[in-house]
Amino acid sequence: MTDPRGHWSGRIGFILAATGSAIGLGNLWKFPYITYENNGGAFVVVYIAAIALVGVPIMMAEILMGRRTQLSPVGAFKVLATDRPGGSAWQGVGWLGVLAGFTILSYYSVVAGWTIHYTWLALTGKLATLAADPAVLSAYFGNEFLASGPQQTLYHVLFMALTTGGVYFGVKGGIERVAKILMPLLFSILVVMVIYSTTTSGFGEAIRFLFKPDFSTLTKGAVLEALGHAFFTLSLGMGAMLTYGSYIGKQISIPRAALQISLLDTLIALMACVIMFSIINTSGIEVNKSATILFTTIPTVLVKLPGGGLLNALFYILIGFAALTSTISLLEVVSSFAIDELGWSRHRATVTMGGVITIFGVLNALSLGGNSALTSINLIGRESTQGVFGTMDYLASNWFLPVGGFLIALFCGWILNTATTRKELEDGHGPLTGYGLWRFLIRFVAPLAVGAIIVSVILGKEYQ
Ligand code: PFF
Repeated sequence: MTDPRGHWSGRIGFILAATGSAIGLGNLWKFPYITYENNGGAFVVVYIAAIALVGVPIMMAEILMGRRTQLSPVGAFKVLATDRPGGSAWQGVGWLGVLAGFTILSYYSVVAGWTIHYTWLALTGKLATLAADPAVLSAYFGNEFLASGPQQTLYHVLFMALTTGGVYFGVKGGIERVAKILMPLLFSILVVMVIYSTTTSGFGEAIRFLFKPDFSTLTKGAVLEALGHAFFTLSLGMGAMLTYGSYIGKQISIPRAALQISLLDTLIALMACVIMFSIINTSGIEVNKSATILFTTIPTVLVKLPGGGLLNALFYILIGFAALTSTISLLEVVSSFAIDELGWSRHRATVTMGGVITIFGVLNALSLGGNSALTSINLIGRESTQGVFGTMDYLASNWFLPVGGFLIALFCGWILNTATTRKELEDGHGPLTGYGLWRFLIRFVAPLAVGAIIVSVILGKEYQ
């Protein structure tokens, strides 16, 4: 009964861990911000279509590859591509995934670290003082907090330590356990905040903004942004879902799991929007649509509400929890590569990889100081290539994830034979009536849509 790689305890463990990977800063920070920027309604419709038509099929593809091989991305491609067109060159997709995990984690953990600082600020009452004047809080955030190398380093290192701890204790004992504790908590805090937001006067307007589409305001850039974000938010394109899928057994239905994970991820993203837009509308403050809303505007509004101090603290704890289950999955992709391909023990792999990424991330953290702040930070990457931080983000989000996703779709749609993919999708599920639909989406719709992102990036017209 040796199980050197580890397995989830069952379906719930897997769903919670994978949902934990998907739900993160992408949902709570990035999605509300880009929805706001792209005028709500119609953007939300396109985003949901991108999740359903591109995200879900690629997630099924990743999980099936993982379960089939019981290996992380490099090994999975190596095994599945044997005797197929392209042969061992396909393992390059796995390498790209490892590189993406390394790169994203090295800046994601810096932002995640801010939630520790903000929780502390909220609990000690300092945030209330700063947030009394929006200009003071903005200045504090940009000129003092971001500009402080030691502070940026400290919180990043702390967050990486938590992340490494989660991965160190293994699939069931670490990753799953953290997700099983944090995900229900996260969900509960969100529900409390949604209920709270229904009592605010800005709630109705928030709902109209989100769910009343006006397609005349939709731009081509917004469509590409929705598509790119679908990737990031579902943790697709770098083998995170493939790796998590390599720890499941045959009794689990892959189509059902992919649908559930995607639904939960979308639900949480929409809940985050309801909360934030209700708060913003209620405040009457003219909010500039910048990426810093979460750390500059939201607290100024929250402190004015009854119970604001506590709400603020809850809010940052929530974001920190969500980020942690995502950083754990990023480190798991890198560590499982060392475990499967280099034959390292889990402890050695986690500590070494966690350590190297921490050091690399310190460079990112330090590159923030003095930078005129968050124009360079963009979780799915847009125009910005300022500084090390911006460059990491730009590379990962504009290149690694879309290219990885594109190749995964091609591989599962065109290289793997139908007998393999059908069997894997039906094991644990039974006859799959939607198989033809999945195959159509993975062969045509997903590559074309993702190809559009890649071409737009090459032409330098991304997300205008
Ligand atoms: N899905 C995470 C989020 O929305 O914040 C980010 C992420 C995690 C991307 C893991 C990729 C990944 F492999």
